[in-house]
Amino acid sequence: MKIAVFSTKSYDEQFFKASKASSAHELVFFDVRLDEKTVQLVVGFDAICVFVNDAINATVIDRLADSGVRIIAMRCAGYNNVDLIRAKERGLSIVRVPAYSPYAVAEHAVALLLALNRHLHKAYNRVREGNFELSGLMGLDLHGKTVCVVGTGRIGAIFAQIMHGFGCQLLAVDSYQNPDVLKLGATYMPLEEALPQSDVISLHCPLTPETKHLINHDRLVRMKHGVLLVNTGRGALIDTKAVIAALKSHILRGLALDVYEEEDKLFFSDHSHEIISDDTFMRLTTFPNVLITGHQAFFTHEALTQIAEVTLGNLIEFEKTGKCTNEVK
Ligand code: NAI
Repeated sequence: MKIAVFSTKSYDEQFFKASKASSAHELVFFDVRLDEKTVQLVVGFDAICVFVNDAINATVIDRLADSGVRIIAMRCAGYNNVDLIRAKERGLSIVRVPAYSPYAVAEHAVALLLALNRHLHKAYNRVREGNFELSGLMGLDLHGKTVCVVGTGRIGAIFAQIMHGFGCQLLAVDSYQNPDVLKLGATYMPLEEALPQSDVISLHCPLTPETKHLINHDRLVRMKHGVLLVNTGRGALIDTKAVIAALKSHILRGLALDVYEEEDKLFFSDHSHEIISDDTFMRLTTFPNVLITGHQAFFTHEALTQIAEVTLGNLIEFEKTGKCTNEVK
């Protein structure tokens, strides 16, 4: 198959080319994001490969279908950036990588939590400047604290396992009760019930119309004062403006984000020489108790190897059988 790979970074190209399955395809790498302006590049391709911030809306899907593209290979787990209804109408198949090292994301969520709780982002800068003052760096023991895991699928279950190892009490929010999480002694309950009891809340559910702004003003005011909120799921799980208000009113002791609702205009690129016009994002960066990474939770050697293997394997399976085990229905 001839495949146009969008939003390519050097590491994507490196891992795709190193994959055993790469010889089965002709891969053309584009560094631009797929959107209504760049979709013209797809003429002559059978398939496209895209990532979390490519905009696969109805217009783009129409142009893809008209150009003869038959399949969209997501090199990620989430597919909230695809208009699934339009894709179905136009007969385009969507395949994805449902699980690639869930450890990568769960471990990053733990790293964010530990850094936020013990103010490592501030300590790092202080020590480099020769400032060994400790005031403002006090944290809490995580041992014995109540941690709420929202979404106990592959990633949430591993996060729960690690927090269990730290000696935390686990609350779980998910309509499906994961036996592995139950074995850790977690108590499943509705989110509303978990909010006032939790010292830490970590989000691991997908972004869907139902989970958009799951963390909103009404839920923030129900939270225990001093809670730490961690989001490695998707940016729009959180209403950012409501979260800023909760930081100002000290409901949140800290906020750690790997994802942001308007990240597609910022993340994965160097904007250090520009004036960033997103005032909401810039306001977040002014809080001493907000720690942000730019959607890097997935970014481990193991995960990138797996993403390349599974994505190219999906395309081989589709080419041979017209179907794929990892198709999004
Ligand atoms: P999964 O499908 O294994 O688990 C998701 C769980 O969320 C399921 O058990 C589902 O029942 C639950 N869920 C759905 N709606 C819910 C709701 N309203 N409240 C509570 N639980 C709900 O998915 P996995 O692999 O664990 O990934 C979770 C999410 O992590 C992905 O959807 C993706 O958005 C995000 N992710 C982020 C990455 C990053 O680099 N920051 C990388 C990979 C995934």
